[in-house]
Amino acid sequence: MAALARALAGVALAFLAGRAPAVSKDAAARGEPKAGEAIYARCLACHALAYDRTGPRHCGLFGRRAGSVKDFPYSDAMRRSNIVWGEKTLDRFLANPLKAVPGTAMGYAGVTDRKERADLIAYLGQANASPECRKQ
Ligand code: HEC
Repeated sequence: MAALARALAGVALAFLAGRAPAVSKDAAARGEPKAGEAIYARCLACHALAYDRTGPRHCGLFGRRAGSVKDFPYSDAMRRSNIVWGEKTLDRFLANPLKAVPGTAMGYAGVTDRKERADLIAYLGQANASPECRKQ
């Protein structure tokens, strides 16, 4: 019986190993921009890529210090947060904005689903490289 269990476990492992190419792991970590574009619709209530609205523009976001778009009226909390926006910092902030930056003026509960955040961040990355953002 134990031998059978070991044999079955071996088969299962071989199956899993064969089924986990590096590419799919990368894709999961990086997210799918197309899916992310649909999620970005939630952000469009307050944000646009190329100009400021209730929230600051998202063009130029990657590598930008939090709270640094000229003339945008940020909260002191955001200005003093010392965050530089990138995949990791966005992931943390978007999961729970008020927890990541207590006192932020971004009145949004966050995107709790990891996959949705990965997709959203992938979309933001793609949008930042788009002509709409590059002509900024
Ligand atoms: C209800 C309006 C609202 C919604 C919805 C909203 N935001 Fe914001 N966002 C803001 C405001 C206002 C700020 C400025 C916050 C501050 O100064 O504390 C902000 C700031 C940010 C910042 C910091 C930018 C910078 O220049 O430092 C990021 C990143 C951001 N939002 C991403 C998002 C994303 C992605 C979504 C969609 C999942 C989203 N926001 C949804 C209003 C909103």
